[in-house]
Amino acid sequence: MQTQNDIPIKDLTTMRLGGSARLLTDVNTNDEVAAACREAKAKSLPIFVIGSGSNIIAKDQGFDGLIIRMRIPGFEIIADDDGSTTICVGAGENWDSIVERAVNMNLSGIEAMSAIPGTTGAGPVQNVGAYGQEIADTLVSLQAYDTQTDSFVTLSKADCKFAYRYSIFRGEAAGRYVITSVTLRLLKTQPRPPFYDSLQKYFEENNVQTFTVKIVRDAVMKLRQEKLPNPKYLPNSGSFFKNAIVNAEQIDNLKAIDPNIPLYKLADGKYKIPAGWLIERAGFKGKLLHGMRVHDKNALILINESAASYDDLASARDEIISKIYDMFHVRIEQEPLEI
Ligand code: EPU
Repeated sequence: MQTQNDIPIKDLTTMRLGGSARLLTDVNTNDEVAAACREAKAKSLPIFVIGSGSNIIAKDQGFDGLIIRMRIPGFEIIADDDGSTTICVGAGENWDSIVERAVNMNLSGIEAMSAIPGTTGAGPVQNVGAYGQEIADTLVSLQAYDTQTDSFVTLSKADCKFAYRYSIFRGEAAGRYVITSVTLRLLKTQPRPPFYDSLQKYFEENNVQTFTVKIVRDAVMKLRQEKLPNPKYLPNSGSFFKNAIVNAEQIDNLKAIDPNIPLYKLADGKYKIPAGWLIERAGFKGKLLHGMRVHDKNALILINESAASYDDLASARDEIISKIYDMFHVRIEQEPLEI
């Protein structure tokens, strides 16, 4: 385990903004996680865990603490029966290579989450999801280092309190746990229609009638490639805003403002409004605000084209949020975590 000093956080995140971190250490084993956490405690420094930095925004003042960069590898089959295979994956594994392995094994449950950037350990933090699947659907449990009790623990799916783009790791337990591995139960059945709207449309347009995990993976990769800018060339953090969730009582008012507003009814009686639609409707699609470009193919994504600082990004974000609030009385929220 090697610790480096004074590291520019912008080099660690795909949005490429922000100040410096006091310390950075890569961890490859559970022992290194425990040692890094003990070191931080001894120095009274906060810790922040990152994977590949694709869902993290760093502020200009930097981070006066220890960044733990998760590198723990591993892919193990821990149970297998007629209908399912359960795998345990190291938190540092690249998420898409795990999806690819699962698809090659003909297992279903995560194929629609193909080509999402980032590491496996980051998945449960924001309950990562795409095209109708989210990690909470297949997660059985996860293993983590608990910095409060200085011990390794297993947390069940229920312990994580998953909701749309939410878990305890970005709520009540933020900063407490270092996730070291994730256990997923995948099914031996093949995916079946109807699929998530845009995926279903893609299959219909291309006259696809047989569905396998591989066919779904390939379709999702194609759709993502068309709509999501590659952070290697265009710095971004994927969806910059969460979709809005509104109560049934707000629906009449919203329809009066715009009868074409897309509304998706959720199981709990609330409604989801795509934030991308609200941003486009507010006239921001393709626009440059304070050096941040609202992506012209998907308004939910902000690209750091020429922002000088986190403050530029915050100005762009706040301008978008307040205009949407003024137009619709709906307050959309930032999706990536902040350090
Ligand atoms: N829309 C617009 N204009 C836009 C973008 C979207 O009108 O510029 C509307 C369309 O009506 C479209 C609807 O928004 O039908 C929904 O769009 P889409 O199905 O592409 O999904 P999304 O809600 O924009 C979510 C996730 C993505 C994920 C896609 C696909 C969130 C915050 N984002 O986006 O996740 O890939 O679904 O399932 O939930 C990410 O989290 O980084 C991410 C990319």
